[in-house]
Order: sequence, then structure tokens, then C-alpha cells
Amino acid sequence: MIVHVFENAKQVARAAAALFAAQILKKPDSVLGLATGSTPIETYQELIQLYKDGILDFSKVVSFNLDEYVGLPATHEQSYDRFMKEQLFSHINIKETHLPSGIAPDMAQECLDYEQKIHQAGGIDLQLLGIGTNGHIGFNEPAEAFAYNTNITQLAESTIKANRRFFLSEDQVPKTAISMGIGTIMEARSILLLAMGDSKAEVIQQMVNGPITPQLPASILRSHQSVTVLLDQAAASKLGR
Ligand code: PGA
Repeated sequence: MIVHVFENAKQVARAAAALFAAQILKKPDSVLGLATGSTPIETYQELIQLYKDGILDFSKVVSFNLDEYVGLPATHEQSYDRFMKEQLFSHINIKETHLPSGIAPDMAQECLDYEQKIHQAGGIDLQLLGIGTNGHIGFNEPAEAFAYNTNITQLAESTIKANRRFFLSEDQVPKTAISMGIGTIMEARSILLLAMGDSKAEVIQQMVNGPITPQLPASILRSHQSVTVLLDQAAASKLGR
């Protein structure tokens, strides 16, 4: 795990975009793993700018997102499908995008199908991750064991509270999601995790220095051969030198 600390969030986003740009320039038909949440928004803005400036071409790029809320159709304001269209896909010439469906008639089958689509595309070259304050990646919440494949997961109480800000009331926050599993994420050839702000300082400290445990799902990333972590100073403030 390589950890870089930058002065501010803008620099984190520019560095993340630089790594995505390098990936796409090296392999124009890259398979990208993408994430939602507030963390990647500025990185997506940087990627859009690189596209508009004629530096990046996404016409052969395929993407797979980490997760989606169960029960929200793609058209719902708070669906991750809608988020991705607004924040990235509608602004670039990306060839093909995939998110798991939150409203498939058979969700267990949707999990299997999503996993298979990733394999058929040749696997993920570069997976982008944020991290929850409880250590979740995707919607893999702290648990007794690591979930291997794409699965249906119960959101942790802290996640429901964190997501409350996007919905009119807590009742409306979905309680379940479909998410790539820890195994799906670990199969990516390279992983890029971003974290910004004081609220992530404690979990980053635990991810880097604590035990590898399903109680802190992101800790497993330390056993992956190619993980880059980009932090601003606030998120890195509890790390030793
Ligand atoms: P955030 O969420 O980017 O909104 O902080 C990250 C996550 O929960 O994975």
C-alpha cells in the first residue's frame, strides 16, 4: 500500500485524475471501477476537464460501479445510476457503463450476473474507492467475515445516518444495497482509495496501522499488491510519520 499525503482535497483529486489518465493513456480500452459519494466528485470534474481539453478519450473505456441502493429505480434522484450520469457519464464519451440494478426482479441473480459481466469484460484494471467512517468499501459494512462476491448487504446504522442528508427523512434512506464484494474489489488489478477531511482520520489510521479484519473491511486492502491511497492532510492527521 502506497500512501501519499497532499495539502488539500483539490490536490488529491488532481493526483487521482492523473492516475486515471495514465491508466487510460496506457490502455485505451481500460475497465474502470467507479464509486459514488462526495469523495470522487472533484476527481470526476478533473477527468471531465481532461476530456474537454482533448487529452483523454473514453471511447473504448468500460466502467463498473461498486454499488446501488436496493429499491431505487435508475431514474430516482438519489440512485447511484443518476449520480454517475450527472457527475460524469453525461459529460464524457465513455463507451459502456454498468451499475448493478437495485430493482431487478431476482436480486440474487442480479448479483451473479453483475459478477459475470465484470469477468466477461476482462476484470477491472483500476478500481476507485472512498471509505466510510466505519471502514466500509463499497457497501461492505463491518461484519464477522468478508463477503466475497457481489451481494445484497444491510447498511450499517452509521451509513444510514451519513446518507440521511440526501433524503427528506431517515425513513426514506434505503436500508439495503447491492454491492461488489470484497473479493470482487480485491480482484481489481490496481486500486486507488481517496479520503479527505477530519472525519476520515481515525478510520485511515486504523486501515493503515490496525489489524486486518472484516470489522474494518478496508484493512484487507493492505494485502493487495497494488493499492495507492491519496489523502489530504486532515485525513492523514492521525497517521504517524
Ligand atoms: P463519502 O462516502 O465519499 O460521501 O465520504 C464514502 C463511502 O461511504 O464510501
